[in-house]
Amino acid sequence: MTLSDYKPMLKIKKLTVQYGPLPALNEVSLEVKQGEIVSLLGPNGAGKTTLLLTLSGILKTTEGRIIFKDEDITNLSPPKIVFKGIGHVPQGRHIFPTLSVIDNLLMGAYLHRNEKKEIKKDLERVDQFLPVLKERAHQRAGTLSGGEQQMLSIGRAMMGRPKLLLLDEPSLGLAPRLMDEVFATFREMNKGGLTLFIVEQEIQLTLAISNRGYLLRNGRVIKEASASALTESREVKALYLGEDAERGLK
Ligand SMILES: Nc1ncnc2c1ncn2[C@@H]1O[C@H](COP(=O)(O)OP(=O)(O)O)[C@@H](O)[C@H]1O
Ligand SMILES: [Mg+2]
Repeated sequence: MTLSDYKPMLKIKKLTVQYGPLPALNEVSLEVKQGEIVSLLGPNGAGKTTLLLTLSGILKTTEGRIIFKDEDITNLSPPKIVFKGIGHVPQGRHIFPTLSVIDNLLMGAYLHRNEKKEIKKDLERVDQFLPVLKERAHQRAGTLSGGEQQMLSIGRAMMGRPKLLLLDEPSLGLAPRLMDEVFATFREMNKGGLTLFIVEQEIQLTLAISNRGYLLRNGRVIKEASASALTESREVKALYLGEDAERGLK
């Protein structure tokens, strides 16, 4: 089976989101197929976080549709969207520092809180992908290293039993060695059947594990291509070189 045979899982159609008078997202259309790893790249302020927050129902859209597994989920509440199978690892992690690691994970299982047996299985699955969390289970989350907190944020999202996981700059604040570890974990999670949509500034690391990617700029998709084509594209090279090079593209 080649990737083009995969079923579309998430379809975003002409999505527009505004905080104030100017749109932060302007008619954004993209899709993620089941089984894929798709990366969303773009400079600061492009609208990447806004897009993920809208997919999770935290921000509302005025125009456009979000279709997940053939169902319109536009503007559903965040818990309903988690229930449909979309997990979100937010930018900045947002773990609960005074709670233990295990209690943080159980917060992620909130929607299934009465299913004790299944939750135990979910925890075992998280331990399998993120073994460090088991070692630290009873430690307060605030005492974990940055990398471990990132793993915890991912583990908490996995406890919601996602089919699609949204990751917002998971490499942020991590030492390079830890970044490699986190991205290797993503690859394993994907092999285990999870579809991933990753927002990143660590372009090379992300494209190395991705099938495809989109480039977002000023709230618009300016390019869509395979990961290898994106790696070689002048737009992505300009992104590496920063704002000055980007201005040169205009
Ligand atoms: N809460 C907010 N209120 C008003 N404007 C915002 C808010 N959050 C983000 N923005 C603006 O929306 C645009 C997109 O931001 P964001 O989605 O955070 O970009 P990215 O994640 O790509 O860096 C930026 O111009 C940013 O200043
Ligand atoms: Mg952001």
